[in-house]
Amino acid sequence: MTQTNAAPSEKEPRPDGWPRARGRHYLDVLEHLHSAYAPDWYLEIGSGRGHSLMRCPGRAIAVDPDFRLSGDVMGQKPELHLIRQTSAAFVASGAAQKLAPAIDLAFIDGMHLFEYVLDDFIATERLCRPGSTILLHDLVPFSPASAEREWDTSRTKGWSGDVWKMTLILREYRPDLTYTVLNPRPCGLGLITGLDPDNTVLSEARDNIVARFMDLTIEDFGPRKFGRLMNMQDVEKVFPTLQQTEAAE
Ligand SMILES: C[S@@+](CC[C@H](N)C(=O)[O-])C[C@H]1O[C@@H](n2cnc3c(N)ncnc32)[C@H](O)[C@@H]1O
Repeated sequence: MTQTNAAPSEKEPRPDGWPRARGRHYLDVLEHLHSAYAPDWYLEIGSGRGHSLMRCPGRAIAVDPDFRLSGDVMGQKPELHLIRQTSAAFVASGAAQKLAPAIDLAFIDGMHLFEYVLDDFIATERLCRPGSTILLHDLVPFSPASAEREWDTSRTKGWSGDVWKMTLILREYRPDLTYTVLNPRPCGLGLITGLDPDNTVLSEARDNIVARFMDLTIEDFGPRKFGRLMNMQDVEKVFPTLQQTEAAE
């Protein structure tokens, strides 16, 4: 399976009220967050060609069963660990705890199905400190076809899958988190702080959550209601210094 963050070709009309993420490009935002937070350790789940990994100047662990790296992903990084495994196998191996004392900034952009992202979030929060930040990609799918669980390449060039369900899940099950959906194009970015590595609410409810949300679609939920629940914020207002930086191509 191949996934892409390329700009989608819109082949089908979107229902009225379908929310869109049209803000500053997510790679610019990632670069800015690396510079603003200066994390000791960055964890990336899903690296693909390495475009997001290249925006990290510090120590990094990148996990992907199918790296297709091109370009200088090492850059000036003092340390880079490339783990050619699924995130589940990486977590089961216990390697993260041996490589880094804690993860300060994480970007979850692996398999675009909500149960995988839920598992990635649960595992990543356990590796974090209370002051760490987790970023979730693909929360704002650009079309109904791109939000489906199967990627139909005849209908959409880009695929966000049903990662959008994470907003419903985290808002309901983890109101203790500070959870903000930002508007970077093409498909939004979740910014999560107030983490609690010892919290077991999600892991205990995991199977129930997966069963409850498996068959839900945005059309059933209601695109406008989904937009209101997300309450998407303009990333350049949340991070005003981003306005002074150069835009990605
Ligand atoms: C959209 S790409 C990542 C793009 C990259 N983060 C960027 O912004 O340039 C998604 C990646 O997730 C990887 N992936 C798929 N299933 C995975 C899994 N179970 N665990 C970790 N990575 C996975 C795919 O191989 C693919 O390279």
